[in-house]
Amino acid sequence: MDASDREMRVYYASRASYYDAVYEKPERRDDIAFLKKHLPERLRGREVLEIACGTGYWSQHIAPECLRYVATDGVAEPLEIARTRAGLSQADCFIADAYALPATLGQFHGAFAGLWFSHVPHERSTEFFGSLHARLQPGARVVLIDNSTVQCAEFPIVETDDQGNTYQQRPLRDGTTHRVLKNFPSRARLEALAQGFGASRCEFRALDNFWYFEYDLPAQ
Ligand SMILES: C[S@@+](CC[C@H](N)C(=O)[O-])C[C@H]1O[C@@H](n2cnc3c(N)ncnc32)[C@H](O)[C@@H]1O
Repeated sequence: MDASDREMRVYYASRASYYDAVYEKPERRDDIAFLKKHLPERLRGREVLEIACGTGYWSQHIAPECLRYVATDGVAEPLEIARTRAGLSQADCFIADAYALPATLGQFHGAFAGLWFSHVPHERSTEFFGSLHARLQPGARVVLIDNSTVQCAEFPIVETDDQGNTYQQRPLRDGTTHRVLKNFPSRARLEALAQGFGASRCEFRALDNFWYFEYDLPAQ
């Protein structure tokens, strides 16, 4: 784990108890209403693995519609909150590093990650997708959502590293400030990554505050 990864984990551990405030911003209301309905519809009836579930904000809406739901996060504090959600009472919640998802989680035909891919350094994208796809069956559906660049109005990009990764300074209620890697991948980049794994179908939607990306792995 490098220093940037470590700092992000400290940041999310410290923020866990009030993380959900991010979903109360009035300008996000319409997008959130759409996603709360659309995400469960797209994963309904599947066995689904969620990566970096955080406090389980999206999981609570998706899990009740799924045949089986396993929610994972790399940090204990947000996952403890996820475990208390009524919508996750039938789900399993495990600590798991997105880059090294263990085989013990099982095999799935659906996957979801909310507001996670923006934290994956460009040079680790293939590693992340490799880890995820190793847990998925042929034909599995993958759904990703994340912030649009509108989010930069609150947290401007303050730094770009040699790999092209961008960083924000994030203040917390305890007075600390954290340097957090936050990328804003284009539709073309997302499609190229998915197609590199043989995705048979890609769908991208630009909402006002978020983007939505879905693809299916090849059937064989
Ligand atoms: C922006 S939050 C997203 C939480 C939730 N998915 C949502 O959309 O509200 C990013 C999450 O990534 C988790 N995380 C950070 N590093 C991780 C890693 N290496 N593997 C898995 N999760 C990680 C953090 O603990 C945090 O819960």
